[in-house]
Amino acid sequence: MNEKQIKLGFIGAGRVGTALATTLATRGYRITAVASRSHTSAARLAGMINGCHICTTLQQVAENADVIFITTPDDSIATVAASIAWQPHHWVIHCSGTHSLAVLAAAREKGAMVGSLHPLQSFADVAQAQANLPGSFFAIEAEGILFAFLKAIVSTLDGTSIVLQGRDKVLYHIAAVFACNYVVTLIKLAVDLWQSFAEPVEPTQAMAALTPLLNGMINNINTLGLPHALTGPISRGDKETISKHLRALEEHAPTLVELYKELGRQTIPIALAKGKLDNITAMKLYDLLANKE
Ligand SMILES: NC(=O)c1ccc[n+]([C@@H]2O[C@H](COP(=O)([O-])OP(=O)(O)OC[C@H]3O[C@@H](n4cnc5c(N)ncnc54)[C@H](OP(=O)(O)O)[C@@H]3O)[C@@H](O)[C@H]2O)c1
Repeated sequence: MNEKQIKLGFIGAGRVGTALATTLATRGYRITAVASRSHTSAARLAGMINGCHICTTLQQVAENADVIFITTPDDSIATVAASIAWQPHHWVIHCSGTHSLAVLAAAREKGAMVGSLHPLQSFADVAQAQANLPGSFFAIEAEGILFAFLKAIVSTLDGTSIVLQGRDKVLYHIAAVFACNYVVTLIKLAVDLWQSFAEPVEPTQAMAALTPLLNGMINNINTLGLPHALTGPISRGDKETISKHLRALEEHAPTLVELYKELGRQTIPIALAKGKLDNITAMKLYDLLANKE
């Protein structure tokens, strides 16, 4: 199989669709067709790739390509798949982290091969997506020749393949939400606390101060791994410090008390595994951080 001769089409010209199509085009793949909900998005993507045809209907993408990536939001994938008269020569791929191949049942029923290629990466906008896509890990769910095709794409993107069963997709996606999206939420909560200082600090300045801390933590994870990357009062068993935190939260941000306690309770086993915390102090920390409701 010379995968670079195969015609690829994209439905959904957003962050992932644009990054995948333009990066693959740069690396020698043939991107022949694109459609999106809006003509503007489709035209923007097509304008970045020589020979890419802007389609006015989704069906036209299937008529101008053999492998079609459905890169719409997750909730539209099944509807898009059901709206096309697929042929047995088509390969249809979605990029969702949470859907199994069942979401492409309409394409499979018409004889198309179906697969999933999920970049385990965070794409906040198109430019970030183009920068972050190469070198990522990609979860693949597919069979036979389509699996080989998707593995070749991952290699082209200097990525690493993970083989995933459809039944594991939801847990896999929850893990990504914890490791990525909710870290953003925690940073936002941290920045907000700086607004409660007696002398509030501009969010951009607070973010500038917190970013090296975040980067240091990522470096620690990269170099030391878990559990040794853990620092802070729980890893040291500093009960007085944690009591002070709880009193201050009650006063300035009472809605965060339960979240702080839950994260603290989840952190105790990591501190124990690191070996700096003894069992008696751990029990006292559990008591301090107990949900008293
Ligand atoms: N963003 C991430 O970090 C990330 C990471 C890994 C995987 N993914 C997955 O990648 C897929 C795409 O996500 P994304 O972040 O690229 O989304 P996105 O930026 O919102 O782009 C989705 C695109 O699909 C188009 N669209 C929406 N409904 C459509 C429909 N019914 N028919 C045709 N086009 C439609 C939109 O249209 P218009 O612009 O034309 O209005 C938009 O350009 C999702 O399955 C997502 O789970 C995302």
